[in-house]
Amino acid sequence: MMQVISPFSSSVATVPFGKTIHISFLLITAWIWLSSVVSSFAELQHFQHPIKPDGSLSFLVVGDWGRKGLYNQSEVAFQMGLVGQKLDIDLVISTGDNFYEDGLTGVDDPAFNESFTTIYTAPSLKKQWYNVLGNHDYRGDVEAQLSHILREKDKRWLCLRSFILKAEFVEFFFVDTTPFVDQYFSDPGDDTYDWKGVSPREDYLSNLLRDVDAALKKSNAEWKIVVGHHTIKSAGHHGVTKELVEQLVPILEANSVDMYINGHDHCLEHISDSNSQIQYLTSGGGSKAWRGDVHRWDPEELKLYYDGQGFMSMQMTQKQVHIAFYDIFGKVLHTWNISKELHSST
Ligand SMILES: *[C@@H]1O[C@H](CO)[C@@H](O)[C@H](O)[C@H]1NC(C)=O
Ligand SMILES: *[C@@H]1O[C@H](CO)[C@@H](O)[C@H](O)[C@H]1NC(C)=O
Ligand SMILES: *[C@@H]1O[C@H](CO)[C@@H](O)[C@H](O)[C@H]1NC(C)=O
Repeated sequence: MMQVISPFSSSVATVPFGKTIHISFLLITAWIWLSSVVSSFAELQHFQHPIKPDGSLSFLVVGDWGRKGLYNQSEVAFQMGLVGQKLDIDLVISTGDNFYEDGLTGVDDPAFNESFTTIYTAPSLKKQWYNVLGNHDYRGDVEAQLSHILREKDKRWLCLRSFILKAEFVEFFFVDTTPFVDQYFSDPGDDTYDWKGVSPREDYLSNLLRDVDAALKKSNAEWKIVVGHHTIKSAGHHGVTKELVEQLVPILEANSVDMYINGHDHCLEHISDSNSQIQYLTSGGGSKAWRGDVHRWDPEELKLYYDGQGFMSMQMTQKQVHIAFYDIFGKVLHTWNISKELHSST
């Protein structure tokens, strides 16, 4: 595993962020390209993103979105633009199901333009997007979403199966969760999945779990956040993903992960685990929602369940995290703060 060190984050940090936005965005893009070349032999690719000069990092999280603006996708995008501007966000995280119903047909699929580029048009959203794949993305051409050609079409785009993103005090571990789900293999119904690059499945999953565990163990970040498409704890339609509970949760718990962020259930949800410090956050309200089938969950743990569309924001410093969920009118539905004592460091 190799660490790619930012060649320019300290120089960016000495100038006011607003004035350097174009330059820093270009640099980030160039850097991402360089990082992926440099670390292409590593198990999990590592990327870095600079924090703000004041020591903070802000971002939005949206999931389950690509429907050419329909089902309130455009309304969510509009509010993301406003909140993104207010919070002066640094990046956007997508929890997958980027393109409905069946991913992209290829790199020339107009859905990329119609569901992404022409939807998230606000200036504040012209930041790097870090995307994972959802099960619907696996029903199309997966390689297309991972392709450099899409990154060239829209420089914000970055999608990999699993990767690591470090922003000084926080490290994000993006995990490809779709191949964990037995049903997609044993009982796919009429759906076809693009498993090229995932077979043999047992090896793929055991290597992935080993790499995520090793990367978490190695991490010295103050905050460790794991991002995947599938739910781990959820009162929504899909509910608990047992494969992840069995295989991924022990790794999250053993490595003091602070949060697991996902989509898959088309809702906004916060479950505060009573057996660990892990906050389970679902941001899957990027377009179609209002499914109506909410299950019972321990009210002590369930801090928010909103069946409709919306998104989540996170404002972080080394010591504090502030989480907020918004509906399509920009109304704040729920907030949550977490504080940490700083570890003594040299
Ligand atoms: C769009 O959002 C509004 C407000 O939450 C809701 O009433 C409406 O049903 C939503 N439309 C769709 C198609 O989900
Ligand atoms: C993207 O879609 C917009 C609006 O439909 C259109 O004007 C534009 O030409 C498209 N761009 C590409 C690269 O297809
Ligand atoms: C939570 O964090 C936000 C942003 O840092 C801050 O404005 C707010 O006062 C905090 N709330 C509590 C209860 O600590």
